[in-house]
Amino acid sequence: MKRVITYGTFDLLHYGHINLLRRAKALGDYLIVALSTDDFNQNEKHKHTYFTYEQRKQLVESVRYVDLVIPERNWEQKASDIHEYHIDIFVIGDDWKGKFDYLKNEGIEVVYLPRTPEISSSQIKKDLFDSGNI
Ligand code: CTP
Repeated sequence: MKRVITYGTFDLLHYGHINLLRRAKALGDYLIVALSTDDFNQNEKHKHTYFTYEQRKQLVESVRYVDLVIPERNWEQKASDIHEYHIDIFVIGDDWKGKFDYLKNEGIEVVYLPRTPEISSSQIKKDLFDSGNI
């Protein structure tokens, strides 16, 4: 059984996220999503989410490709997650290309998937704001 992990905020869950999760699951048999907590988003990623961690978790857990959601609390936890959850493949969108190659030292495969063009959580927020709908 191949175990895959991915990391992210997944605010305002959209089809770009679903595409990523579908392709991530297809790389193996069991998909774990490490979901950025509200504190981590605010203090380290400088992202202000619309949905709280619990709300985002509920949404991501409802996606058929996702087997388990765990909290992402800091940048350093990846190596210990890989061992704790017996991970074979780390996967993330290619906006992070090269950034996590060092995880290969943990004996796993690192895969960057092409992002779905044009959609992002921040783009949705911007478009709604620009259209005067919020
Ligand atoms: N992702 C993707 N295609 C998109 C948007 C996101 O493949 N159009 C992927 C990212 O590369 C990442 C995961 O989905 O692996 C979670 O990304 P996240 O940063 O939470 O989503 P974004 O929509 O990019 O959010 P933001 O606009 O806040 O950066």
